[in-house]
Amino acid sequence: MDKRPIGIFDSGVGGLTVAKEVMNLLPNETIIYLGDTANLPYGDKSAEIVQRYSVDNTEFLLKHDIKLLVVACNTASSVALEHLKSSYQLPIVGVIEPAVKGAIFATRNKKIGVIGTNRTIKSNVYPDMLKAMEPECQISSRPCPLFVPLIEEFFIDHEATRLIAVEYLKEFKEQGSDTLILGCTHYPLIKDIIAEILPGVKLVDSALSTARDIYSLLDSHQMLALTPRDGKPPAHRFFATDITPKLNDLANRILGMKIDFEEVSVK
Ligand code: DGL
Repeated sequence: MDKRPIGIFDSGVGGLTVAKEVMNLLPNETIIYLGDTANLPYGDKSAEIVQRYSVDNTEFLLKHDIKLLVVACNTASSVALEHLKSSYQLPIVGVIEPAVKGAIFATRNKKIGVIGTNRTIKSNVYPDMLKAMEPECQISSRPCPLFVPLIEEFFIDHEATRLIAVEYLKEFKEQGSDTLILGCTHYPLIKDIIAEILPGVKLVDSALSTARDIYSLLDSHQMLALTPRDGKPPAHRFFATDITPKLNDLANRILGMKIDFEEVSVK
């Protein structure tokens, strides 16, 4: 048993989708969350910069004596996960592999679509991993860079988002994909619009699959916090590198509860 906290970082609040699933599945675990909102978006930055931010975020979380690191950002998982794994001793979980496993499990016709930020799609990490695990699958992938700003503007059930989604998603219709990976932490928030445009297509987001992977990993290392810390409910902490009103609204929307962010500088 290990009662130290789990550290989770994302470029913003989208990674709270993962934190929420961890809270549901592992209610005794304490979470230290960091949203690097001052540097958001990662999706349009170079791989080197995202790697550097990821190291800074990891160093910050390590100061909180975490037992496990979760890179709850698709862009950072695409370009920095291997670097982090080779640089640090603690167990590290990203969001790509759980989504890939989820998609392979879900598909029937082996035609899988992937959407994500520019950087994630450019990295090719999803098609590479999908092909390595299921050589017969046909993959089409597409960056959807306008989704993050639209969601940040709360255009969640909005005609503008619907119009752009129709444009972005048409190739998946043409390809006949039966499964689509939502390869960005923000996209689960517009799942309803995507489902409307691609009826019958299975939408795989990594939050739940990642939480399951975390559970298995902690369980296999006998590192689960089996009872609440000090007999009290876990005292999660939420940090952000820039706190704006929008941040709180989006966080409340994702978690379904009000949280108080603490502002930090990680560099
Ligand atoms: N968190 C990022 C991701 O999952 C989306 C937002 C950004 O571009 O930083 O790829």
